[in-house]
Amino acid sequence: MQTSPSREIAVLISGEGTNLQALLDAAAAGTLGGRVGLVVSDRPDARGLERARRANVEAVCIRPAEHADRTAFEAALLAELERRDPALVVFAGFMRILRGPVLARFAGRMLNIHPSLLPKYRGLDTHRRVLEAGDRWHGCTVHFVTPELDAGPRVVQYRLAVRPEDTPETLASRVHVGEHIVLPRAVGWFLAGRLAQEGDVAVLDGKPLAEPVVVEADK
Ligand code: GRF
Repeated sequence: MQTSPSREIAVLISGEGTNLQALLDAAAAGTLGGRVGLVVSDRPDARGLERARRANVEAVCIRPAEHADRTAFEAALLAELERRDPALVVFAGFMRILRGPVLARFAGRMLNIHPSLLPKYRGLDTHRRVLEAGDRWHGCTVHFVTPELDAGPRVVQYRLAVRPEDTPETLASRVHVGEHIVLPRAVGWFLAGRLAQEGDVAVLDGKPLAEPVVVEADK
């Protein structure tokens, strides 16, 4: 069965692409409510590109080095996205900060997965920062993308208890498990018309989310 173009998502990646894989798997299982129509990487060696091609999804690399500046890079990315006109753009481990036209064109239709319990630990190196602070809890957050980095309206979090023996590596891998649960869930809500961004808040099933939905890790 052909899915309508409005149920297509584009996924932006830079690396391994396990979150992309979770979305591809959910689409194949019929639980996403749509399909991945396009994958764009800023790095030619991103393994996620192979994952996309293996799933017969169009996969494109746009290299910043081949563009005069950040504006030209972003214009090329926008052109690629507009060609496909996805319902939603998912930032799944895309390690580049966008500032310009992509954010304007797709406002309210962009979700990002971030490896911390936002608003704590925006930016990089979240697992090490959690351990250094001695936090009891860690996890990841799916949020709408806005011009301010990692600060858009939060939708859903996966939360786990930090263990005394945890290292940045063990935390990264335990958080990854949760990313693969909450990202397809949020994308599914969006594609089903249950989730929207209204200004500074995410709205799920008609209710503004003062706090994100929380999924607790198994003990
Ligand atoms: C994830 O931890 C994501 O939260 C972060 O980058 C990582 C991407 O992992 N921003 P993958 O490429 O999806 O495996």
